[in-house]
Amino acid sequence: MKRVAILISGSGSNMVALARSMTGDHPARPVLVLSNRPGAGGLARAEAMGIPTAVVDHRPHGKDRAAFEAALDAALDAARPDIICLAGFMRILTPEFTRRWQGRMLNIHPSLLPKYRGLDTHARALAAGDTEHGCTVHEVTAELDDGPILGRARVPVEPGDTPETLADRVLAMEHLLYPAVLRRFAEGDRTPVLLG
Ligand code: GRF
Repeated sequence: MKRVAILISGSGSNMVALARSMTGDHPARPVLVLSNRPGAGGLARAEAMGIPTAVVDHRPHGKDRAAFEAALDAALDAARPDIICLAGFMRILTPEFTRRWQGRMLNIHPSLLPKYRGLDTHARALAAGDTEHGCTVHEVTAELDDGPILGRARVPVEPGDTPETLADRVLAMEHLLYPAVLRRFAEGDRTPVLLG
């Protein structure tokens, strides 16, 4: 049984989708939900699901990313995860950290990578006049929002879309894509999942 740690910063809707998927004959189970923000709504949702939680607040460490990541590693080592899922985790990780977890750490990004790495992806897709948009799950490497693609889901851009309406449509698809990718990844299959 693969042990999965899920890292969040916010509401944790992707964490909930992932946790709900890991039942029955699924080869993985959630063993930790960790947030860098003490007030993240996802922490209460994880507790309600009976999943152990931890908070590693990045603020006391200021610009010292290595110190923050040392605290992160301590919390992770206690949970002994085989796989880490970044799910709305809004901290940039150093190359050293990503190297330690390379091949075992996934992220979901709300764009069709390699388009729109970084932030504000929905506004950027609208500004570009794209007719389709979506989300991507990839292995985390030292390069931000780069790494081998494990899944991609497309959604149409509708006339009159705002960044908010588009984000909602993408988020709903994230909740389908990420669990499908995690199951395949936990089974040792890196064939990309393509939806939409
Ligand atoms: C959302 O913007 C989602 O697109 C991205 O992370 C943000 C928060 O997601 N992956 P969640 O509800 O905390 O999972």
